[in-house]
Amino acid sequence: MNGPNHVAIIMDGNGRWAQERGLKRSEGHKEGAKTLEKLAIHAKELGIKVLSVFAFSTDNFKRSKEEVDYLMNLCITYFNEKLSKVIDNNVKIIFSGRKENLREDVLEAMKNVTEKTKNNTACILNICFNYGGQEEIVDATKKVFKDLKEGKLKEEDLNKENFYQYMYQNLPPIDFLIRTGKEHRLSGFMLYQATYAELYFVDTYFPDFLEKNLDEALEYYSTRDRRFGSVKTD
Ligand code: IPE
Ligand code: IPE
Ligand code: MG
Repeated sequence: MNGPNHVAIIMDGNGRWAQERGLKRSEGHKEGAKTLEKLAIHAKELGIKVLSVFAFSTDNFKRSKEEVDYLMNLCITYFNEKLSKVIDNNVKIIFSGRKENLREDVLEAMKNVTEKTKNNTACILNICFNYGGQEEIVDATKKVFKDLKEGKLKEEDLNKENFYQYMYQNLPPIDFLIRTGKEHRLSGFMLYQATYAELYFVDTYFPDFLEKNLDEALEYYSTRDRRFGSVKTD
């Protein structure tokens, strides 16, 4: 099978997973974090080169202070401790998103884990945190303007391929995009990179989306005929 190079997951449904069990929403986030650890290792074992995950959107700041605080604290413990197994698996961790509005201790934890894993080579885990796809395109456009103004870029040289260099991370396009948790929408996730991504929506809430579920999703991917606008000639 010609597997996907870049897989992306909109990790949705943590809150409902918890609520349906009579638990607090935060319990769902905690369980979701454990799931991500398992999936990242599994993705690496499967030879996936890049795994991008939507962990916190710019719009998620609209949630209660209690939930936002919980998620910020979870990410610190998570980046500092829980990712050690992922790191031992030679996974490089990077982040996409805006730094504005993030607490100093959160930024510090992100910096530490980026630094610790910068020489890892098996797989890239791109964690989209305080991320919005429209924001990313706007921020990229501002960088383009800056380069034009400083003479580092000529207008005629900008194209859809090198525009990637202006994104938060210069990653290949997404081949396969999974959204767990019943909703059929992108909620702003990697709009530019998802242009020709195969889409997979699954009802399973993220905490329950384990290795075998990823295998099943990849099985579906292997049946797709990706034409990129062309017509099959054979
Ligand atoms: C996804 O789960 C995680 C984040 C957005 C932080 P949700 O928290 O959106 O869970 P539901 O969709 O309310 O169930
Ligand atoms: C998208 O989920 C963001 C993340 C998974 C981090 P949301 O739960 O925030 O999206 P909507 O509100 O259902 O569109
Ligand atoms: Mg949700």
